Amino acid sequence: MESQDWHDLGEIEALRQKPLQEIVIGKTRLAVSWLEGKLAVISGACNHVSGPLGQGTLEGDYVVCLWH
Ligand code: FES
Repeated sequence: MESQDWHDLGEIEALRQKPLQEIVIGKTRLAVSWLEGKLAVISGACNHVSGPLGQGTLEGDYVVCLWH
């Protein structure tokens, strides 16, 4: 499904392959996680200086930024 508000992130099987990954839609970076059977999506830009959260790591329930 594609619209102004909804975007297709791809097949769920592909999203399940990595605990954390970056997906870019237009100019928007997203950090997409798969943990314990649950998909979650947050901004891919870290609050500090916009580091790529989707390229970071998952530590427990937390996304850890790649940069700092
Ligand atoms: S840019 Fe993410 S902690 Fe600094």
